[in-house]
Formats: sequence, C-alpha cells, structure tokens
Amino acid sequence: MKLLTLPGVFVPISDSWMLADAIRQEAIGPGSQALDVCTGSGVLALAAAECGATTTAIDVSRRALLTVPLNAIRHGLRVRTLRGRTFARVAGEQFDLIVSNPPYVPSPRPDVPRQGASRAWEAGHDGRIVLDALCDEAPAHLRPGGALLLVHSSLIGTDATLERLQRAGLVDVEVRACERARWAR
Ligand SMILES: C[S@@+](CC[C@H](N)C(=O)[O-])C[C@H]1O[C@@H](n2cnc3c(N)ncnc32)[C@H](O)[C@@H]1O
Repeated sequence: MKLLTLPGVFVPISDSWMLADAIRQEAIGPGSQALDVCTGSGVLALAAAECGATTTAIDVSRRALLTVPLNAIRHGLRVRTLRGRTFARVAGEQFDLIVSNPPYVPSPRPDVPRQGASRAWEAGHDGRIVLDALCDEAPAHLRPGGALLLVHSSLIGTDATLERLQRAGLVDVEVRACERARWAR
C-alpha cells in the first residue's frame, strides 16, 4: 500500500507492515468496528478499513490527522479521525478490534515528548509509557470476543506486556508474530 506522509509524520517501517498483515488475518469485515490508536499515516487503520470494518484512527499529532484522510481518499476508504491521547476521545465506545503500534523506544527523558518527530517513538526511560496505558485501558474498549493487536520491540519486555494484559483481564494472550528488525532512523 503506497502512503503519503506529511513532514513530521511517522513513515511506516517493518513492524507497521507486520501488524498490517496480522490485521488482515483477523475475522473482521462489514459490521465490525475497528480502532487504531497511534495511527500516524493511518497505515493500520486503512488495513482494517480495507477488510470492511468501520474504522476510527486516533493520534496526538495534528499532522498525522491531516495525513490519514489523504491516504484514505487515495485508497477509496473511509476512516474516522480523532485527536487525543490513547482512549480519551472514545470514552464509552467499544470495538471488535483494537490495534496499535505505539512509541516504544527507551529515551533519556523520563516522560514522553509533547511535540516534535520523536513523539512518534520515544516513550520514557523504559519505553513503556504509552504501551502500558494501552494494556491497562484497552480491555474496557473491547466488545465481547474482541481482539487487541499490539506491536513493540522485545527489548522493552514481551513478558511484561503479556503479564500486564492478563492482569487487565484479557484471555488467550500470546505472541502472534516475531520478526528481526533493525532500527535505522
Ligand atoms: C510509532 S508511530 C506509529 C504510526 C503508525 N501506526 C505505524 O504503524 O506506522 C506512533 C504514533 O503514535 C502517536 N502518539 C504518540 N503518543 C500518543 C498517544 N499517547 N496517544 C495517541 N497517539 C500517540 C505519534 O504521534 C505517532 O504518530
């Protein structure tokens, strides 16, 4: 899928495409509701929309939210876009599929950047600030039988994510796919 990215918007890399492939293997289609948190260019939202799901895309970046409709039009798809942190803009809503490729790179600063391109990848000393919020909050936004697909580097702890998701109440928690990748930014 060819995508435009406005300056400052994260350009999809190998883990974006790995997660897009996993979305295509989910049993979603017309009548399903999908949510992409941390959407960037909209690559994952568009993969869900391509499957026929009614799709919402969330990001903190204004430029990302200008980019998503451009890519949606380019591919003849529709995506609802919302600006905000994690699930703040979808309070009370539930989805059949939630996907996210959050910022997960450990950073010298303890918090997340409020602006700039590094907001797309830096996530505190342990790289887990946004990921942990997703693990904790996603279950409340899943319909019965719904699924959450996340991607992150094994360097920040796969077991920590699996345990956190189980503690948050999810069942059948597993690593679906792994890929060797090189950070080349
Ligand atoms: C690693 S990029 C992923 C972009 C795209 N999903 C992909 O796979 O190519 C992370 C994105 O998350 C956004 N972001 C960072 N913190 C966020 C938060 N707390 N809530 C929502 N979006 C956030 C950034 O602006 C950036 O677009």
